[in-house]
Amino acid sequence: MGAGVFLITGAGRGIGAATARLASEAGYRLVLASRDASSLAALAARLGGPDRVWVASCDVRAFDQVAALVGRVEEEWGSLDVVFANAGASVVTSFTTTDGAPPAEWSDMVLTNVCGPAFTARAAMPALMRHGGHLVLTGSAAGRGVRPGNLYAATKWAVTGLAQAIRAECVGTGVRVTLVQPGLTDTGGIPPSRAADPKLAPDDVARAVMYAVSQPPTVDVNEILIRPVGQDAYR
Ligand SMILES: NC(=O)c1ccc[n+]([C@@H]2O[C@H](COP(=O)([O-])OP(=O)(O)OC[C@H]3O[C@@H](n4cnc5c(N)ncnc54)[C@H](OP(=O)(O)O)[C@@H]3O)[C@@H](O)[C@H]2O)c1
Repeated sequence: MGAGVFLITGAGRGIGAATARLASEAGYRLVLASRDASSLAALAARLGGPDRVWVASCDVRAFDQVAALVGRVEEEWGSLDVVFANAGASVVTSFTTTDGAPPAEWSDMVLTNVCGPAFTARAAMPALMRHGGHLVLTGSAAGRGVRPGNLYAATKWAVTGLAQAIRAECVGTGVRVTLVQPGLTDTGGIPPSRAADPKLAPDDVARAVMYAVSQPPTVDVNEILIRPVGQDAYR
């Protein structure tokens, strides 16, 4: 126990919730954040009382909300050691047809997936620098390959670049920056077109996160690409 304070955005389901469970087992005190804090209550109750797990409503598209949360955590718990910028959203897009979500619905995904981790990094960095902390970002295998018509993949390319930009600026600060790029993961939001594809379990990705954060403080795991066996390299 006593491993530090671990903040997770998008902690209510999927990869975030799985990481919360493993981080709790590793002895971290947890801050679980999503827009709908009521969705976090059951998970928090399973992982410990308010002295071990804190639940917060926070929309990562709003810098002020993320900054206020980080400020409260450091003030009340005295540290911030790992920040997992994990919240994300996905809609199906096409540039040549009217399939998928209409363009008016694309902005939320871009704000969540690109501004979300950027705002989280900016808000958390002063605390992470004070405590020799670790920033972990959830990108995607989609952030490495071209996918026809896929704006979601483009947002994850942005996360790939964001992680590198943040790490480059963090040189000399002691802050570690890890980009985790999962392949298809069975979290309930998979489009019907990929229902039959091989999938990771959320725990598979959570173990990758915990691998990165459990290395000695002199080791910065820059990137982890993790796909289910049999996933097409271009999907
Ligand atoms: N599943 C996959 O196949 C896959 C593959 C590669 C990468 N990823 C990435 O992995 C991350 C987690 O994905 P997942 O599939 O585990 O997620 P998920 O099951 O879709 O859950 C998303 C989580 O993010 C929260 N969230 C959404 N928008 C938010 C916002 N604006 N502010 C704060 N929280 C927000 C949701 O809670 P609220 O709705 O209450 O806010 C929820 O807790 C995402 O970045 C996703 O792009 C997923």
